[in-house]
Amino acid sequence: MVGITETVLRDGHQSLIATRMRTRDMLPAAERLDAIGYRSLEVWGGATFDVCLRFLHEDPWERLQSLKRAMPNTPLQMLLRGQNLVGYRHYPDDLVRKFVAESARRGIDIFRVFDALNDPRNMGVAIDAVRKAGGRAQGTICYTQSPVHTLPSFVQLGRELAALGAEELCIKDMAGFMPPGDAAALVRALVREVGLPVVVHTHSSSGMSALTCLAAAEAGAAAVDTALGPFSGGASQPPTEALVGAMRGTPLDPKLDLSALADLSEYFRTVLDHYRPLLNLRSLQTDGEVLLHQVPGGMLSNLLSQLQEQDALARLPEVFAEIPRVRQDLGYPPLVTPTSQIVGIQAVFNVLAGARYQTITREVRDYVRGLYGAPPGPIDADLRRKVLADAAPIQGRPADLLAPEFARALEEVRALVPAADDAEAISYAVFPAVYKAYRARRDRALTDEALTSAALGIVGALRARPASLPAPPSSLVREEAGGMSAWAHEGRSRLHSQRRWIDASTRRTRR
Ligand code: CO
Repeated sequence: MVGITETVLRDGHQSLIATRMRTRDMLPAAERLDAIGYRSLEVWGGATFDVCLRFLHEDPWERLQSLKRAMPNTPLQMLLRGQNLVGYRHYPDDLVRKFVAESARRGIDIFRVFDALNDPRNMGVAIDAVRKAGGRAQGTICYTQSPVHTLPSFVQLGRELAALGAEELCIKDMAGFMPPGDAAALVRALVREVGLPVVVHTHSSSGMSALTCLAAAEAGAAAVDTALGPFSGGASQPPTEALVGAMRGTPLDPKLDLSALADLSEYFRTVLDHYRPLLNLRSLQTDGEVLLHQVPGGMLSNLLSQLQEQDALARLPEVFAEIPRVRQDLGYPPLVTPTSQIVGIQAVFNVLAGARYQTITREVRDYVRGLYGAPPGPIDADLRRKVLADAAPIQGRPADLLAPEFARALEEVRALVPAADDAEAISYAVFPAVYKAYRARRDRALTDEALTSAALGIVGALRARPASLPAPPSSLVREEAGGMSAWAHEGRSRLHSQRRWIDASTRRTRR
């Protein structure tokens, strides 16, 4: 029997509607989701944390607790970027441990821990924290293709993750270009050599996902990730119904009730209708080109928005050609947050400036210095020389250089919100500016609501009939920066700060 991890409440809506599904649209389905018999429900992590605070003005911790209360029977799962938690930089160990402990306390059972460079040193503390908090640690192998990523190298990583305490393994194919044959070979080798249950996560971008999941299941995968019909396909996962239907009556049968799944899909179809303005048709289409450029969906939308800002959309083909070259220069990092961002922005710079590495981003410099971890392959010698002229590369684990942050964050946040608890201090430590804006807005909203209630109460009393609060505007979803991902937002602000470099270098070139 193959287990099914349902992603509609995390990756499904992250991939199709820029992570904008609100808690209030999740809860009506919770009881039915909990009754299906899924192996787990992915509900948190990835971009959900950032988007809750930044765009939805929801407390991500409150969402987690509400979901746990509503779905007590099915293990809840989150995606954790190892030492990067749910953010875009390395955080110190004390914060990693606090974050994991608080997430477990509020309802996460399974933690899928990954690192963009597949550097086990960036996953060890998180995995250890998960075990100490009583959670299940799923060590992750980011799948990619390159001369240095071979079957034996992936198996070796699987062994190292097991040694760190991972209780199961995940093969994570971010952009959806893992062929069924590769998936089957990898699953078989990991099961045989490492002996842990293996879960396969892929995306439908190239159209191969259902084939890949079926091949993985036949090769002995313990579970595959799928999304309910309305939130499946394109940039998201393959449909739950398709995999359940395909395996029904075979020894792999996940034994989930297709009519109960149909009922849930009917509900989520109405939810998707509500968010229609955020749905980019392109993210639903099959994109065979991903087999060539291997750029994940989130990174693609980011590139498009960056080029658009520079009025240079026509140069996308050049950027596509430059991405593999930058990736090679950097030792073939898999393209996933944050390396996708690092490679993508540098490729845009190289193309727009008309000269490669005329401007080197701070992120690429840090990367070459070893601050993100050990690159999978050697870094290009010229680039190394250019960057390291003014600093030496570090040899150890990047987070060893970071001082503890939690105590200071708690102190600072209590200066803003005297009653702030650990969870709020963590939100603040991870996204200081975003948290402050969220807090200010929320306090303002509370005041407004109280005033509105009071005003309506007076009006109601005058009219001598019960007053009701006005319904929230149905156009709420429109005001949230279109379908832009939090990640694109982060990249865009970095680009803004470095834009002067592009302008300056363009002027130089023209002269
Ligand atoms: Co994914």
